[in-house]
Amino acid sequence: MPHEFKTIIEPFKIKTVEPIHFTTYEHRRAVLEEAGYNLFLLHADDVLIDLLTDSGTGAMSSEQWAGMMRGDESYAGARSFYRFEEAVQEITGYTHVIPTHQGRAAERILFGALCRPGDVVPNNNHFDTTRANIEYRGAEARDLVADAGRHPQLIHPFKGNIDLDALEATVDEVGAENIPLVMLTITNNAGGGQPVSMANIRAVSELCKRHNLLFILDACRFAENAWFIKQREQGYADMTPREIAHEMFGYADGCTMSAKKDGLANIGGFLALNDPPYDGQRYLDLPQRCKNQLILTEGFPTYGGLAGYDLEAIAVGLREVLHEDYLRYRIRSTAYLGDKLTAAGVPIVQPPGGHAIYIDARSMLPHIPPHEYPAQALAVALYLEAGIRAVEIGQVMFGRPVAAGFEEPGPLDLVRLTIPRRVYTQSHIDYVAEAIEHVNIAKDRIRGLRIVWQAPALRHFSARFEPA
Ligand code: F0G
Repeated sequence: MPHEFKTIIEPFKIKTVEPIHFTTYEHRRAVLEEAGYNLFLLHADDVLIDLLTDSGTGAMSSEQWAGMMRGDESYAGARSFYRFEEAVQEITGYTHVIPTHQGRAAERILFGALCRPGDVVPNNNHFDTTRANIEYRGAEARDLVADAGRHPQLIHPFKGNIDLDALEATVDEVGAENIPLVMLTITNNAGGGQPVSMANIRAVSELCKRHNLLFILDACRFAENAWFIKQREQGYADMTPREIAHEMFGYADGCTMSAKKDGLANIGGFLALNDPPYDGQRYLDLPQRCKNQLILTEGFPTYGGLAGYDLEAIAVGLREVLHEDYLRYRIRSTAYLGDKLTAAGVPIVQPPGGHAIYIDARSMLPHIPPHEYPAQALAVALYLEAGIRAVEIGQVMFGRPVAAGFEEPGPLDLVRLTIPRRVYTQSHIDYVAEAIEHVNIAKDRIRGLRIVWQAPALRHFSARFEPA
């Protein structure tokens, strides 16, 4: 028998390198103050290891770069569009493929065509832009993640599942006619990058069919979700990620997608739809209406705001992301960071998610109340100490002022350490773990923050803070 090696290595070698920048503590303190303690407002050159997001930050493969040279920049009917369309159809099985410049453009077009004031859109957890685009239409974005997903330390294989009883109750309460679509986010980003089981996707599909509801996947991290199903759900161990993905998509009527995640591209996205199986004004000519809107704001339907070479990069990326070597490395290397932090006694959302580790800042810093933003304070401390940029997913992102000086506390205060795809090596991650252990030892000295300026929507991107 050949030896079975336990070490999971990066399934690539490096052809191009990009230097990263070392800074001093004093420099970081100065630029933090200048940025109003908002890490979105830093210059990236002042960041050593950037774990702000996994969106558009991945490294492309040699095949993707080669594909870009094939890019056909024709305005209409470009070859690159047909390659892109074929890749999307092959994986999702959906009829209409509408390219967009990124995921939120697909959301805006879909919600613009479907949502009216007073409507309710259920989801396991809406991510920030999804929620904002629904609320912008005057509709309500309702989070119905199952109970397991609300307890950070609880170990459960599918903490991204939606609560089916709560979904049924929502349909009873508001009426199917006021629910333009039901969404499921795979994996559940705002809830810790946790997967949704095939059984849950199937059950949502059945519920939607029973009530004539349109079912749309927010599929940004579909390949990671497929890998978790392969590892954790009975009956899927022998199926390929591609077969699993195909089955997941098959239960829904369409998807919105940010190709900046599991498209392994630096920009791009799409809306993919089957013809809605339901009658009624709301669904009449839905794909065509979306394409009309696309022309108005994004571009002709064969490029949708992207260059031909972007479409090529996505077409290749969508296939590469389903390679088993890649997914095994991807999910294992994220868990590696989670395991190190757990061993050091740092509370994280358990089990580790697909694209990120989420530190439970509310548990780690009990001396900082939610209205002093413990997760933001922790992210700031991590930058100051080690030059690492993480992102707050908590009170700043989802909390809302209810009266002058008052805020409803949100469900969780998390710091997301988001791992860009194919970018950092194991020693980078060892450094991150060491830095967090160091911050954890002196955590009692971390102080809360107060907001001195905020925008009316999506405040986390631009708010300015000062120490409380
Ligand atoms: N849906 C989910 C679940 C997301 O995570 C994102 C983006 C989007 C939709 C929107 O896609 O950025 O291409 O417009 N999430 C990034 C993040 C920004 O950092 O998690 P987009």
